[in-house]
Amino acid sequence: TEAATEAAAAAATEAAAATTGDYADKKVGISIYKFDDNFMTLYRTELERYLTEDLGFKKENITIMDGKNDQAEQTNQIDNFINQGVDVLILNLVQSSSAPSVTDKCNEAGIPVVYINREPDAAEEQRWKDEGIKATYVGADARQSGTFQGEEIAELENHGDANGDGVVSYIMVQGDPENVDAQYRTEYSVKALTDAGVKVEELLKQRGDWDQAKGQQIVQDALTQFGDKIDVVFCNNDAMALGALAAIQAADRKVGEDIYIVGVDALTEAVQNVMEGKMTGTVFNDHISQAKTAADIACDFLNGKDVANVNMVDYVKVTNENAQQILDIVK
Ligand code: BGC
Repeated sequence: TEAATEAAAAAATEAAAATTGDYADKKVGISIYKFDDNFMTLYRTELERYLTEDLGFKKENITIMDGKNDQAEQTNQIDNFINQGVDVLILNLVQSSSAPSVTDKCNEAGIPVVYINREPDAAEEQRWKDEGIKATYVGADARQSGTFQGEEIAELENHGDANGDGVVSYIMVQGDPENVDAQYRTEYSVKALTDAGVKVEELLKQRGDWDQAKGQQIVQDALTQFGDKIDVVFCNNDAMALGALAAIQAADRKVGEDIYIVGVDALTEAVQNVMEGKMTGTVFNDHISQAKTAADIACDFLNGKDVANVNMVDYVKVTNENAQQILDIVK
């Protein structure tokens, strides 16, 4: 019948729009927790590139704000996006604990939200599902990255016991401890070691807030205080590991010989260090796949498709063996 033909044609048009996408007039509001973060800068750059070059969004329709690590400031930015009537939001919250109130605002305004990088808690994610709220999280399971860090140490011939005293004594340089990424990496890196039957001792755990300069200061002080007792320096991210490495070199310690150090993210400089044996390892926090997934899911919302409440991208272990391969991806 004519109606059936029309319906089929309409369905075909819709399917074409979903895959090819016509996003030229769609407005995207993005807020990053702070621009001054090495990893989120890579992520943000890839997100904008993918939205414009691959998906056909217009650059002038994408607004990216700097949350300046201030939740009140970022909440204002979100209010402005809502007032402007953007079609979809991609948010890297300053405080993931603000997700419930932000989600409610956006939901009332009928604007779908894709949260990235800083994961809201499980109860909040479940609420989106239960109440059919158009909100989702795109990220990576930080437990996996912590486990990989611990395994990189456990897999060494001496299992990380550089000074051979029978115990792996470590210092832990933490990101912002409000962040699950920091909590899980701290917990699971050590767990992987103890699960492998390695005896461990924590000499120090200190927050470096994901920051290179803070990482350097913490490790410089720790090296002065604990000296050769330190076998392993765990850093929750590469920025802090790069700072830590500077402190290690300044103290004349030799990575791979009398000390080990691992980070997370696979920043280009860190991967190069792994290749040259200046860092024991890192873990690729795949900002490219995360940015693409976040953008694709934003499109799914725009196209009225069903979206899962949690979407995880895998981490990849980076050691001397595959560092070149990873470098080719991130460079
Ligand atoms: C990254 C850090 C970054 C943080 C920001 C983490 O997943 O590993 O480098 O600073 O996200 O929230």
